[in-house]
Amino acid sequence: MSNESLANLLKEERRFAPPAELAASANVTADAYTRASEDRLAFWAEQARRLDWAVEPTETLDWSNPPFAKWFADGKLNVAHNCVDRHVEAGHGDRVAIHFEGEPGDSRTITYAQLKDEVSKAANALTALGVTTGDRVAVYLPMIPEAVISMLACARIGAAHSVVFGGFSADAVASRIADADAKLVITADGGYRRGKPSALKPAIDEALTKVDGVQKVLVVRRTGQQVAWTEGRDVWWHEAVDTQSPEHTAQAHDAEQPLFILYTSGTTGKPKGILHTSGGYLTQAAYTHHAVFDLKPESDVYWCTADIGWVTGHSYITYGPLANGATQVIYEGTPDTPHQGRFWEIVQKYKVTILYTAPTAIRTFMKWGDDIPARFDLSSLRILGSVGEPINPEAWIWYREHIGAGKTPIVDTWWQTETGAMMISPLPGVTHTKPGSAQRPLPGIAATVVDDNAAEVPDGSGGYLVLTEPWPSMLRTVWGDDQRYIDTYWSRFEGKYFAGDGAKKDQDGDIWLLGRVDDVMLVSGHNISTTEVESALVGHPAVAESAVVGATDATTGQAIVAFVILRGTATPDDDLVTDLRNHVGKTLGPIAKPKQIKIVAELPKTRSGKIMRRLLRDIAEGREVGDTTTLADSTVMNLIQAQLPTTD
Ligand code: WT7
Repeated sequence: MSNESLANLLKEERRFAPPAELAASANVTADAYTRASEDRLAFWAEQARRLDWAVEPTETLDWSNPPFAKWFADGKLNVAHNCVDRHVEAGHGDRVAIHFEGEPGDSRTITYAQLKDEVSKAANALTALGVTTGDRVAVYLPMIPEAVISMLACARIGAAHSVVFGGFSADAVASRIADADAKLVITADGGYRRGKPSALKPAIDEALTKVDGVQKVLVVRRTGQQVAWTEGRDVWWHEAVDTQSPEHTAQAHDAEQPLFILYTSGTTGKPKGILHTSGGYLTQAAYTHHAVFDLKPESDVYWCTADIGWVTGHSYITYGPLANGATQVIYEGTPDTPHQGRFWEIVQKYKVTILYTAPTAIRTFMKWGDDIPARFDLSSLRILGSVGEPINPEAWIWYREHIGAGKTPIVDTWWQTETGAMMISPLPGVTHTKPGSAQRPLPGIAATVVDDNAAEVPDGSGGYLVLTEPWPSMLRTVWGDDQRYIDTYWSRFEGKYFAGDGAKKDQDGDIWLLGRVDDVMLVSGHNISTTEVESALVGHPAVAESAVVGATDATTGQAIVAFVILRGTATPDDDLVTDLRNHVGKTLGPIAKPKQIKIVAELPKTRSGKIMRRLLRDIAEGREVGDTTTLADSTVMNLIQAQLPTTD
């Protein structure tokens, strides 16, 4: 990136005040910012008291050996006890913890008392299978309650889990099992996806021909499909777990006991095993879930649509919500099975009050049409969340209007696998929200935007997002590779955590995320963010979704090439392309007009829904398309290429 600051082109003037009723009864009010800025560590020590500690910590942060942090280091707790048992002990055993909705339409209701029994049985089974404190367990499951139960059972006995997304290939699983040196794998025969059983166990069977060290494979029967069986190694869950006693005494573990390893999707290089530990992680996951979703455990029904294989599923399905005693929905399948209204049917059925999903899903719903959500009763919703990518202002507005009846606050939450929990987000009872901006660091979090020389940029300018103080749920290291932890995150700017995202501060000092710095374009000496051009395109009524890349150009250095998916009703012709170019020019300025606009039916996305611009850059620059192994659908690139005129 050049010294010049990132473009600061997009003007967004719309503002939405918090609903008065919500503001009046909000869990967190504006004074939290003041208290936290007066004494950040005292603020986090106070939040740690949300948890049940077997030994109360007296020390908050040990930063004597940066960037290696210890939080609440002399405290001891059991994470599973905090997520389950203590709610039962407090008299909430009959409260529903999980409303499970399977893709084929089966459902299960699990109360906190039942969850306690299930987690205890699973903990006893893991112990019986030889897993002890400090071991690693790989989890490769569909979105079924056993995924949450497995994670909590590991936490209960002090073994770290490494959840691998069920869509990953045998090779990807093998390298993650090897890197974490997992002793046991928990998987299932399969799960339901797009209306059919989709096998999981064959990937484990194949992975285990390539790695050593796994002694047992615990297999959940979900679909009933045929599985290969290795005697002595494979064990059915219903035989090993269901027969165990529901009594299990949870030992207290150190606050810094490893809780999980989660591999980042990373577009280049070997995946990094991000290590999270117990006390600080749970403190921030619980606090942010309480603050940002304003969770009222007695009355809310919360639903996070992420998969357990991503950090969003870890922090905002398993740990944050359960630590807070929430009632939540877990859905196994895809949003269009058996019909495109499935999500809204689920919201209606369980009277969901808080919904947390991703911009990629929201744009897909926009493309499917306004009439689909309109057929369902969504009046229970009171807060909507977004995570995973910058949300385009038009998608934000659509979400609020068509899902939130024009009333619900939207919380656009910025964070990463590495940060463990939310870092920048509006507070629903406090913030006057702006479509497209994550706005302010949460209380207790220090984030800002700096230029190439690590100097904080003034309001109205852009640069790189950095975190300037350690936070409780921060990654502790890259598993087995402290140097990579230092090099990747703490070397770009001295003493500051480099997030890898471009960002700008607007005139009010609010933060706008502009995408990964690798995705910023340099056009005739101007830094232009892909996010802003994409948002301008999505702001045109004919466009449902777009991905923008900078392609090498002899005159301008890079030229803007836009790939666009149209809404159902639009006609793809030359007039429309001219109109779209002019629309971007009008919204952002002539410098941001795409040189080429390519109308396509699909965009290449990772399994977590992020657009892989690297592959589009290959197309735009006329190269052979690079490594597509992390794509959700590997046929998409062929489809895109087949649609484009070769002379373009
Ligand atoms: C990257 C982290 C956070 C859990 C899911 C993704 C992007 C995430 C936002 C947001 C703009 C966002 C960033 C970040 N990102 N949330 N609200 N606004 N960008 O976790 O796979 O570790 O990805 O996702 O680029 O660095 P992840």
